[in-house]
Amino acid sequence: MVKPIEFQQILQSQKASQFCGLAHIPGDKSISHRALILGSLAVGETKIQGLLESEDVLQTLRALRMFGADIARHEDGTWRVYGVGTGGFREPSDVIDCGNSGTGARLLMGAMSTTPITAVFTGDASLRSRPMRRVTEPLSEFGAQLKARGNERLPVTVMGTDQPLPIVHRMKTQSAQVKSAILLAGLNAPGQTQVIESAETRDHTERMLKSFGADIAVEKQGGEQIITLDGYAELSPQSVTIPGDPSSAAFVIAAALIVKDSNIRMTEIGMNPTRCGFLTTVQDMGASVNITERHVVAGEPVANLQITYAPLKGVVVPAERAVTMIDEYPILAALAACAQGDTVMQGIGELRYKESDRIQAMAAGLNQCGVKTTESEDQLIVHGRGANSVSGGATCQSFMDHRIAMSFLCLGLISKRPIAVDDVTPIQTSFPSFVSMMNGLGAQIYSPSE
Ligand code: S3P
Repeated sequence: MVKPIEFQQILQSQKASQFCGLAHIPGDKSISHRALILGSLAVGETKIQGLLESEDVLQTLRALRMFGADIARHEDGTWRVYGVGTGGFREPSDVIDCGNSGTGARLLMGAMSTTPITAVFTGDASLRSRPMRRVTEPLSEFGAQLKARGNERLPVTVMGTDQPLPIVHRMKTQSAQVKSAILLAGLNAPGQTQVIESAETRDHTERMLKSFGADIAVEKQGGEQIITLDGYAELSPQSVTIPGDPSSAAFVIAAALIVKDSNIRMTEIGMNPTRCGFLTTVQDMGASVNITERHVVAGEPVANLQITYAPLKGVVVPAERAVTMIDEYPILAALAACAQGDTVMQGIGELRYKESDRIQAMAAGLNQCGVKTTESEDQLIVHGRGANSVSGGATCQSFMDHRIAMSFLCLGLISKRPIAVDDVTPIQTSFPSFVSMMNGLGAQIYSPSE
């Protein structure tokens, strides 16, 4: 009998004969971070249902407690956040450790930079290697002083300003984290803060700010999007329900598409158009995804999905789609290995700055599994030759990256020989129930020593 072990470092997956049932997809990671942060910046009690209780989100929660918010979990699984108001953060008495989370680090730096307190941010080895100038530069325009290691990386010391100035920032990198950091800083600055972006990155911050009562307007002009936020905002507490994370759902969708005779259902999955690029892409590849019960929960569109096995063909994924599926490229690369023909992923240079260099990590693991790839600075081509061509029989490196680990465990469900992943502990950062949920649906993910 195959017994799942969730907390073991090395896990492997092998061919699954079935993959069926109702998948319980945990709450959206991006929205969970934002609900905790905005709840902490509102005055009074915010109630959060369906919070993702993963390492990344819990690091943000711990940080917000250090900034003075009172956050508690109730027996029924809801979380209550007693916020301190915009500008109400107190100086933390220790270093803020954001763990693996770029979202946590960048959004929290923004949220505190216009309050006259000092905080030192750090994270794990993966986070400490990621670029931070993209946030330190715009935040210093507000008047805050930010000092990064080597001018670019964590640890970063932020000395928040007591005399913030509003800023107008044209995005150099298309990043929802940078946009959100600026908007959160703008909450406690006078006047109007503006962010101008040429590609519409995920808009959870804008939607949630609106529902917490901030004055925020989004306007499209000549191919650009201008977001204008009124400063010195007073946020009123809300009741937030977090939708299922479409980025986590992508792993289950992918497994359903490659395991023969599969049939998977999932409910209340986030369908925000700024996150739907993966669904569009798998539909282009030949998948049929049945989308029902579309409705809106707490300002975010959601729906139920049903997915069954489908033979896939290679496609070209245009650069314009990248922001709407930025976290889904690792699992797309695994799916592309099972498709007939080449899948060309264009304009994905940003993947090199995620929890790992995801272009390099996926290419390396796929090559070990007998799948050919061609990589350039901002493009990956996977030369798919059908599901039966994936030989497996390799130990792939996760490079401290949850999405790389989960992608190779999914690919092992159809490879000729098992695929092992050298370290699966990063999965805790976004999808702690991944192994037990997948095995409950028919996957075979287990410790090689079993
Ligand atoms: C996120 C935005 C994306 C994404 C990350 C979460 C967010 O990063 O990759 O996992 O919650 O804002 P960038 O917008 O910086 O590309």
